[in-house]
Amino acid sequence: MNKTLNFAIIGCGVIAPCHADAITNLIGARLYAVCDIIPEKAQSFAEKYGVKHVYVDYKEMLKNPEVDIVCVCTPSGLHGEMSIAAAEAGKHIVCEKPMEITNEKNQAIIDAVRRCGVKMQSIFQRRTMSAAIATKKAIEEGKLGKIVLASAYLKYYRDQAYYNSAGWRGTWELDGGGALMNQGVHGIDLLTWMVGEKVTSLVSKAGTLARDIEVEDTAVALLQFEGGGYGVIEGATTAYPGLETKFEIHGEYGTIIFTDSGIEKWEFLKEQVPMPEASEKLGGASDPSKISSAGHFILLKDLVDAINEDRETMIPPEEGKNAVAIIRAIYKSSKEKREVEV
Ligand SMILES: NC(=O)c1ccc[n+]([C@@H]2O[C@H](COP(=O)([O-])OP(=O)(O)OC[C@H]3O[C@@H](n4cnc5c(N)ncnc54)[C@H](O)[C@@H]3O)[C@@H](O)[C@H]2O)c1
Repeated sequence: MNKTLNFAIIGCGVIAPCHADAITNLIGARLYAVCDIIPEKAQSFAEKYGVKHVYVDYKEMLKNPEVDIVCVCTPSGLHGEMSIAAAEAGKHIVCEKPMEITNEKNQAIIDAVRRCGVKMQSIFQRRTMSAAIATKKAIEEGKLGKIVLASAYLKYYRDQAYYNSAGWRGTWELDGGGALMNQGVHGIDLLTWMVGEKVTSLVSKAGTLARDIEVEDTAVALLQFEGGGYGVIEGATTAYPGLETKFEIHGEYGTIIFTDSGIEKWEFLKEQVPMPEASEKLGGASDPSKISSAGHFILLKDLVDAINEDRETMIPPEEGKNAVAIIRAIYKSSKEKREVEV
């Protein structure tokens, strides 16, 4: 019989309920403690979920030996210091996306997790969508042949009020970027995970076209995959009313196109592949508070199982870093007005 694992959440904001709801539904785990730098937020969140242990200082919470797993749900540019402190305190980690906002900070997290021997799950809940899983499998099994075009259209809508709703949003220091680093990071991770190839170089434009923020609200990039194929990323938070994300993948033997609602095209020239039923809508195109906890549940359950079975998690930190490396290269290419290596 495995011990009941105690979760603690740092940061009781918009995404925290997805974690709390998922934990509440897990067998063999419970929500044990919460922390927010704003005491009233921590207190009301604790009351909503019936949690007795409430903190304003996450370092104090990490001293509690009863805490087994920490969910890092704070502004993105704080994920590194908190994840590293959690690892050093011997806690397992769930880290919201983006894992961190620079390649160096991501590497520091990976090093700490491996040095301290804890488990970590990076949150990219879209990897749990059945359309994405089936697409990855078809590509891995060679059903599409060589991938020639693989593109992601990530057109969200976030108005100025969204950016004004918390001081860290839309800042280089704590958001690390805008339409790509905060929202598009999901789709960029999914695209490269499904294709299973590195993006080796890219050329891009990223700008602030409609919002009053430091970072980009609109971006396009042209990708070179290591297998020779090309791709496009369009990312925006300026696309009213916020569209479902869309992925278009073409190989020499077929085409897969899907959106958040399901598969639009699933055609194979040679060997036919049964079309998966894909209907999960994880949400968030126009309102981040509407994101479903279904994907989080799968990833948190996988972490609990990974701890109990002493195995690797579905999305270890080595994979959490990939999309951020591409996004950093997009910023660099746009700034330097040239093609850059990733
Ligand atoms: N997986 C997803 O789909 C998804 C969706 C939304 C947000 N996120 C990610 O979750 C993270 C949080 O985003 P959010 O929208 O919930 O932000 P938010 O501003 O709503 O919440 C962040 C919370 O962290 C607290 N906080 C800040 N500094 C702290 C500190 N030092 N110690 C303790 N608490 C502190 C704030 O008071 C706030 O309550 C971001 O990294 C974001 O990218 C992921």
